[in-house]
Amino acid sequence: MSDLSGKPDYRGPATLTFESPPAEFEVQIDLRGHSQPIDGVFRWYGRVRPHEALQGFMEAAGSSRKGRLSTDSGDVPVLVSDVDLWGRYRLQGTGMPPYPLEPDVDPDGEAETAATSSPQTRALDRAAALLEPEFRADADTTDGYVELLGGTPAPSPTTASKAMNNPLVASIYEKLWRPAGVAMMGVGGLSMSAERAKAVADLRLSGAMSVLDVASGPGNFTKYLSDQLSGDGIALGFDISEQMIRRAVRDNRGPHAAYMRGDAQSLPFANNTFDAVCCYAALYLMPNPLTVVDELIRVLRPGGRIAIMTSYGRSAAPVKSILGAVSGHIGIRMFDKNQFTSIFETHGMTEIEQEVRGLAQFVSATNAR
Ligand SMILES: C[S@@+](CC[C@H](N)C(=O)[O-])C[C@H]1O[C@@H](n2cnc3c(N)ncnc32)[C@H](O)[C@@H]1O
Repeated sequence: MSDLSGKPDYRGPATLTFESPPAEFEVQIDLRGHSQPIDGVFRWYGRVRPHEALQGFMEAAGSSRKGRLSTDSGDVPVLVSDVDLWGRYRLQGTGMPPYPLEPDVDPDGEAETAATSSPQTRALDRAAALLEPEFRADADTTDGYVELLGGTPAPSPTTASKAMNNPLVASIYEKLWRPAGVAMMGVGGLSMSAERAKAVADLRLSGAMSVLDVASGPGNFTKYLSDQLSGDGIALGFDISEQMIRRAVRDNRGPHAAYMRGDAQSLPFANNTFDAVCCYAALYLMPNPLTVVDELIRVLRPGGRIAIMTSYGRSAAPVKSILGAVSGHIGIRMFDKNQFTSIFETHGMTEIEQEVRGLAQFVSATNAR
């Protein structure tokens, strides 16, 4: 059985009962599960769809509650806990789940197992397996990527962020928008393919590495990074925009490339998860770029490489004030030259390299922790 790929293992009606105080609710649930490679125990988990009476009961009874969950396939103990923003309570249990344990069956009736699933599905499984367990319960992979935001739209407070959430921009981003933006930043003659090659060289990619590409847009770098990998290597594109992620799934999936929708201000991975972390052309769009940089460093393993490309404000006063006015108006930040090199130094990173080209700066480093 695959870990989190495709639809849930069970979606449908169930009865949730509690002993004290006694209560019974007819609910709709989504469940999935897998055997842990470490202890071999089958763990299943999921969510109850919003249910007003259950919510009233849970609010009165406490934040988590043991009960029983029955479906046509079984009646098992369950823990009901953490409600999410959409009013869905978490369900979890171990051992036999209340649904039949069979291989996933696709709509055409053909069984999909680990051996027969597509390379893209296996890449998505490997990506989902990188999540911290508490986020796996919330992950939905129905649309070919890992959705962690429950379909809520990304915030669009500025002109620039509005553009990133616009389906038209997402559709022309890779071919038109990005090259035009690079030309405006005067990236000193570096084409996008040269920028990609620079990212690969700076990150020192090869083999079965795990690579996180934060703010991956439509996957225009992620796929290229993934092409340098082999074996179980995975490049995971991570972005907050549904439009961008959908485009990435359409145009830039691959045997080593998968996508996840979430907020980079709080990455859903444990410390030291990735061999390499990349963030190109995005920090200047974000309201809290330094929080995001701290997150990038946190999830990078000791000895791993980080590479960022962002804006550079130039120090000449008249130029700076014009830049400040224009960029502030559309919601783009200009950074000082030593902004990121000094953060990397503070974190004890080594091999810090910086290249400034036009209004862009490329900074890379090794995590020496
Ligand atoms: C200009 S695109 C960069 C795409 C690609 N990295 C490149 O170099 O062409 C910036 C991306 O940052 C994403 N983004 C902005 N804020 C984010 C956040 N808090 N978490 C994740 N992605 C974010 C936007 O949705 C957008 O797709």
